[in-house]
Amino acid sequence: MTTAVDDAAGRMSAFIRDPYPTLARIREAGAVSVVEFGEGLPVYLVTRYQDVRAALMDPRFGQDVRRSQAIASGRGSGLTLGSEVVHMLNSDPPDHTRLRRLIQGVFTRRRVDLMRPMVERISDGLLDGLRGRETADLVADFAFPLPIMVICELLGFPPEDMHAFRTWSTAILTQGGEMTFDQATAEMNDYLRELMTARRAAPGEDVLTDLVRARDADELTEQEVFSMVFLLLIGGHETTVNLLGTATLALLHHPDQLARLRADPAAMPVAIDEFLRYESPVSMATLRFTNADVMVDDVEIPADELVLLSLGAANRDPARFTDPDRLILDRGDPGHLAFGQGLHRCLGSFLGRLESEVALTGLLERFARIELAAAEETLPWRNTIMLRGLESLPVSLDG
Ligand code: HEM
Repeated sequence: MTTAVDDAAGRMSAFIRDPYPTLARIREAGAVSVVEFGEGLPVYLVTRYQDVRAALMDPRFGQDVRRSQAIASGRGSGLTLGSEVVHMLNSDPPDHTRLRRLIQGVFTRRRVDLMRPMVERISDGLLDGLRGRETADLVADFAFPLPIMVICELLGFPPEDMHAFRTWSTAILTQGGEMTFDQATAEMNDYLRELMTARRAAPGEDVLTDLVRARDADELTEQEVFSMVFLLLIGGHETTVNLLGTATLALLHHPDQLARLRADPAAMPVAIDEFLRYESPVSMATLRFTNADVMVDDVEIPADELVLLSLGAANRDPARFTDPDRLILDRGDPGHLAFGQGLHRCLGSFLGRLESEVALTGLLERFARIELAAAEETLPWRNTIMLRGLESLPVSLDG
């Protein structure tokens, strides 16, 4: 079956606004579908929970972006997959192992627990900024700055540069916005080069200083430092922003569950898992390719084919989750795939959870009334099939 997910503009926006009915049809039609990705490039799409989970853990699905790019180019596609920015998420072992090992100590549960006061300080500061305002854009004024200020603090970057990161990541991830992919990567590399020089001269207590030291000890190349920072900046904010926006919208749609959560803030960590399942911020895992013939259920995907694993579809699979299209905040099922699984399972999952818990708890504590201040159908969604998130969320507030 061939389904164009992103061909006609009209179809695209309907899909972007609500991808779940289409994903459900694709999931019901068969274990694997062939869809068009980018400029007519055929890609195998896997949507069922068991199959997506198995594929995430199967080394026959590779992620080395240079190989994916070669496959795409070999099919005559002009699609740019960013093969000059090689980081742990788009590489395979042994590079993946080496790169992940260099940084994983920063994101352990214990280290992240120590970040709670910092995250609370940032969240409180942003909520202070909303005090007395009758309306706000919860994405621009809260959901976006929070995780980016956290990751800037970890990396040791000036938080006032965060708007540049947003412009770069929009250009790189969605290949849209005010800048081209090449311009964005070039600008970002220049920016990082300057900061690295500054850290060499005056080391700080931050991740960038650690990376500069590792670079000087020849543990990774300069290009790998850039790519690592790029991945942390993007992984560190695109995802949590999306979750905060969609979780708030979901609460506005479910006033009864919002009231229960207000009455029992201790239920927030369990609710976060349900928000992650219901609107998975990373809707599609990174593009993979088969490095052997692989059977997915009853369908064979030949070697050297590009593959998309839909986390959003898997997390709404009725074969795994009862009533999957319903938000049930006390579902208490952390078995969703929103953080991926296997080798590339999200390195920042503890941090993403902490940020979401602190932010949503703080928001509900501060504002007794939060109402949507725009017509539902006018809400702008991120224009990409890879991520699920709102561009803005206008609300009216009452402290
Ligand atoms: C709600 C928040 C988040 C969600 C839903 C999320 C989701 C994901 C997913 C699905 C993957 C795996 C993608 C794949 O296998 O193709 C991933 C990987 C990754 N995430 Fe997150 N993420 C979140 C927050 C963060 C944060 C805060 C950071 C840290 C700064 C981070 C850093 C990373 C990194 C470095 C990887 C690559 C891991 C590897 O390749 O081994 N993420 N994330």
